[in-house]
Amino acid sequence: MTSDPGERRTVRLGVLLSGRGSNFQAIYQAIQSGQIPQAEIGVVISSRRSAEGLAFAESHGLHSRSVSAKAYPDRDAYDKVVLSHLQEAGVDLVILAGYMRLLTPVLLVPYENRILNIHPSLLPAYGGVGMTGLNVHEAVIAAGETESGCTVHLVTETVDGGPILGQARVPVAPGDTPQTLAARVLVQEHRLYPQVIASMIQTYCQSQAV
Ligand code: GRF
Repeated sequence: MTSDPGERRTVRLGVLLSGRGSNFQAIYQAIQSGQIPQAEIGVVISSRRSAEGLAFAESHGLHSRSVSAKAYPDRDAYDKVVLSHLQEAGVDLVILAGYMRLLTPVLLVPYENRILNIHPSLLPAYGGVGMTGLNVHEAVIAAGETESGCTVHLVTETVDGGPILGQARVPVAPGDTPQTLAARVLVQEHRLYPQVIASMIQTYCQSQAV
């Protein structure tokens, strides 16, 4: 966290992503428009060099890094490199935005209660290992649910099991495909994630106040 004259504090976000990065873009726009005040993006880290989200970060002049798993012997070694990038950038809060890797205690311990994720279902339903991407929406439709949505939660060692910070609901329409349902949920993701981040930043600033 940095302070500028006039005591205004800026909270640094570290965004971890692996793909499209549409949630990251929604967060970026929300910072630009002032919907998420007191925040700046310290670093964007992608687990894939070809991620669209990484290209967006680069083209918008954001500090970014690509960290390929192939270069490291195990998950701990990988997370140590990610941690060093986050710490070098002075990151206060970590935002997972379509990050396709499970975090180890190497990251979970130093950033305990400071890592957020968004999941495209109403957790605790349709979460856990293997519940990613269209699998989630396929399962929701197959179960005959009439409602789905998305959840922002704190990240803990239990996959998709950390404390829930916010949810948004959408109807499941008759005739929905995983793709149509995913698109409806995604609209809400882009609305919910910036809202929750803004309120998390407020809480964070209050907890850091001296
Ligand atoms: C979103 O559906 C999010 O809920 C999940 O992964 C997807 C990422 O999409 N964790 P994008 O990369 O933000 O467009």
